[in-house]
Amino acid sequence: MAASAAFPQSLAYITASVAGLAVFLFLSSLLLVSNPLSSTVQEYFYKVDTLKVILPAVIPKNQTDTYSNVDAGDNKSLPSGSDFELKPTSLSGINGSVSEAGCDLFKGTWFYDPLGPMYTNNSCPVITRMQNCQGNGRPDREYESYRWKPSQCDLPRFDAKKFLELMRGKTIAFIGDSVARNQMESLLCLLWQVEVPRNQGNRRMHRYYFRSTSTKIVRMWSSWLVHQTPEAIDFAPEGVTKVHLDTPDENFMEFVPTFDVVVLSSGHWFAKQSVYVLNNEIVGGRLWWPDKSREAKINNIEAFGASVENIVASIVTHPNFTGLAILRSYSPSHYEGGAWDTGGSCTGKTRPLEPEQMVKNDNIDKMHEKQMTGFLRGIQKKSNKSKFVMMDITGVFSYRHDGHPGPFRSLDPNKRTQFGPDGKPPPQDCLHWCMPGPVDTWNELVLEIIRREYEGKKSSSS
Ligand SMILES: *[C@@H]1O[C@H](CO)[C@@H](O)[C@H](O)[C@H]1NC(C)=O
Ligand SMILES: *[C@@H]1O[C@H](CO)[C@@H](O)[C@H](O)[C@H]1NC(C)=O
Ligand SMILES: *[C@@H]1O[C@H](CO)[C@@H](O)[C@H](O)[C@H]1NC(C)=O
Ligand SMILES: *[C@@H]1O[C@H](CO)[C@@H](O)[C@H](O)[C@H]1NC(C)=O
Ligand SMILES: *[C@@H]1O[C@H](CO)[C@@H](O)[C@H](O)[C@H]1NC(C)=O
Ligand SMILES: *[C@@H]1O[C@H](CO)[C@@H](O)[C@H](O)[C@H]1NC(C)=O
Repeated sequence: MAASAAFPQSLAYITASVAGLAVFLFLSSLLLVSNPLSSTVQEYFYKVDTLKVILPAVIPKNQTDTYSNVDAGDNKSLPSGSDFELKPTSLSGINGSVSEAGCDLFKGTWFYDPLGPMYTNNSCPVITRMQNCQGNGRPDREYESYRWKPSQCDLPRFDAKKFLELMRGKTIAFIGDSVARNQMESLLCLLWQVEVPRNQGNRRMHRYYFRSTSTKIVRMWSSWLVHQTPEAIDFAPEGVTKVHLDTPDENFMEFVPTFDVVVLSSGHWFAKQSVYVLNNEIVGGRLWWPDKSREAKINNIEAFGASVENIVASIVTHPNFTGLAILRSYSPSHYEGGAWDTGGSCTGKTRPLEPEQMVKNDNIDKMHEKQMTGFLRGIQKKSNKSKFVMMDITGVFSYRHDGHPGPFRSLDPNKRTQFGPDGKPPPQDCLHWCMPGPVDTWNELVLEIIRREYEGKKSSSS
């Protein structure tokens, strides 16, 4: 399991409070947004100052306040070059260039589609146990049948043949943490229904090959997308993970030129223990800051923003990458009544939230805001060979509190009913997504983005 391999050793303290290895592995992939974040946001270091952010269209229930500070600085506008893929709204509609600016894929509603999901837990053999909600005994299944409808156009059901045809001879890579794995496995399940791929993977790179069109689906693990080391730096001893916010993770960067489409995502590991390093200087730490007399320059959310900016910048300035990059925005979790380790739950959520039921989540909003800002700052450095699209699912998926495994993360009923020796309820998974389930929509969006990119190119060159 890549998740456990990449798990920071320094979190061993958690094992003290849990019983078995299985639980340990679960926690390792779920160590999330557990503590409220530092409320003192110091803007001076990673300052949101120059950009007028084009906001995602779906901002549920008047959450605009959250973002207003982004616009509050000076109002220098973005470079006017037309090769910037600045706003999701600039993506064309289903009718291609006809409705070029007309359809925002990320503004719309969820609706119940009686046709149901494209696959089942029985027709896809590569569903990770923790996301196999039906296989783990989840009693309801309506959550599998909701589909996303952008207001101004349709997002078609996933068309596996079309995907493979568009990706003929090409490679798509998913790079990120366990949520990126969730998305890659969803794509595999969707494609599996028309063709069983050959597994050509190794430990470093999971890879499936679809013979009919010579298409490769790749997954590479990268927890933060940036370089990490255990070595001692300055006052941070060996062991605790050092996250180098200004250095892309070399493990995947060397392969980037070989990919035609790269789907990048990150975020949740910024809730885990680590030390943030910028220019070889320690600028902050998460769940690690031994010397309280020192002042941290950035918190973990700002660290996330800085990492995104640097990753995006290094992709768009990569001399040999000529493909399409997609940044999948922060995936919202839905813990209620506590955090993942303090009885937080999403039990009994069987349908998407209605817009008026939406509750503001400061942490998710801030993560999203820093990611958007980092993205916009990063693509300012763009050279003109590659293309970078923001796939802004955070607002869209805030509605889907019903799409997580919750207690049905394990086949073992004891793991969801028995309280631990410490009296705590068993941890739930309100972060990853059931399969089949809403995560399949991410790949409908990826297909749509690819289609617009490739079909748009074809028509403009003909
Ligand atoms: C949301 O804000 C807009 C503009 O600020 C306002 O017109 C609208 O009534 C608000 N809606 C709700 C539900 O508060
Ligand atoms: C912001 O824009 C307004 C008009 O668009 C301009 O008058 C003002 O000087 C700008 N402020 C800054 C800080 O650039
Ligand atoms: C799929 O889910 C059903 C319950 O809906 C269960 O009976 C079956 O064993 C599951 N199959 C797999 C392979 O998980
Ligand atoms: C797409 O174009 C066709 C005809 O060209 C039209 O009938 C249809 O309504 C259009 N759909 C959208 C979503 O604009
Ligand atoms: C880009 O490609 C050239 C020629 O193959 C190679 O020499 C160079 O090292 C590559 N640069 C990067 C950053 O991969
Ligand atoms: C990239 O930009 C440079 C200078 O801005 C220009 O000379 C070159 O033709 C561009 N290449 C492409 C493929 O657009």
